[in-house]
Amino acid sequence: MADFLSDADFDLYRKLIYDESGITFSATNRAILESRLRERLREKQIAVVRDYYALLLKDKEELKLMLDSVTTNLTRFFRNQPHFDALINYVIPEVLKIKKEKGDTKIRVWSAGCSTGEEPYTLAMIFKDKLPAPYQAEIVASDLSLKSLMVGKSGFYPETRIVGVPDAYLPKFFDKKNNGYQVKDELMKMIRFDYHNLKNDSGQRNIDILFCRNVLIYFDEAAQKAVIDRFWDAMAAKAYLFIGHSESLFGMKTKFEFLKTDWACLYQKNT
Ligand SMILES: C[S@@+](CC[C@H](N)C(=O)[O-])C[C@H]1O[C@@H](n2cnc3c(N)ncnc32)[C@H](O)[C@@H]1O
Repeated sequence: MADFLSDADFDLYRKLIYDESGITFSATNRAILESRLRERLREKQIAVVRDYYALLLKDKEELKLMLDSVTTNLTRFFRNQPHFDALINYVIPEVLKIKKEKGDTKIRVWSAGCSTGEEPYTLAMIFKDKLPAPYQAEIVASDLSLKSLMVGKSGFYPETRIVGVPDAYLPKFFDKKNNGYQVKDELMKMIRFDYHNLKNDSGQRNIDILFCRNVLIYFDEAAQKAVIDRFWDAMAAKAYLFIGHSESLFGMKTKFEFLKTDWACLYQKNT
């Protein structure tokens, strides 16, 4: 068992994964990588790790599946409520002021590393509930995990996954269906789920509010910095950036301004 992945193989795989996604594997999470690779090899009926590595170099689709398999997709609705309190009480009023000045009614939101969709749907519920007419939010939700994106696109969540949705929001934004809940159309229409690897430029511009929470934690500092610089380019002047509450840009040379609100800390592109 211990020989499944030699040290040299481990280095090969972790370099490939890092180069392709920014996700960093170290000795401490080597066992996770090994178990995910075992699954892929079993699926492809390949016995030798080097053979699978050779396949990855020539088969882009398999590379996508392998990257998907090494991601951690843990998420939930209304994860870290203080962020949403800051969004409701601070960010939305500030963004509305800017929008009013510009005569623009669209608020462009990006949930980067959206996993199975709970984060963008949480955002959609809040915007639907809190934005005054004629303002509307347009949400792009992206991830490199195809499996996760499919769940997000379906908008169906089993009963156990719905924990965290406020009582008043459940009947308003979900239909009870079999053993779970289906997100209503009006919410689904607000979100576009997209495959996107944060290693690359997304092509997004003029984003007003960007959520990228609990994603950077899997990257090393160089990869984090590259992603943060690309976010800068994707965001409008004065736009707001939320990262995970255990993540920080501290010590990183970025142009983002740190903002401490009464509810949570976030960042602003304060040009
Ligand atoms: C732990 S989940 C976080 C989900 C959600 N943002 C939250 O905070 O609940 C991390 C997500 O980041 C995605 N991810 C990791 N590396 C990525 C990359 N290079 N490009 C896009 N998504 C990535 C994973 O697939 C996973 O779905």
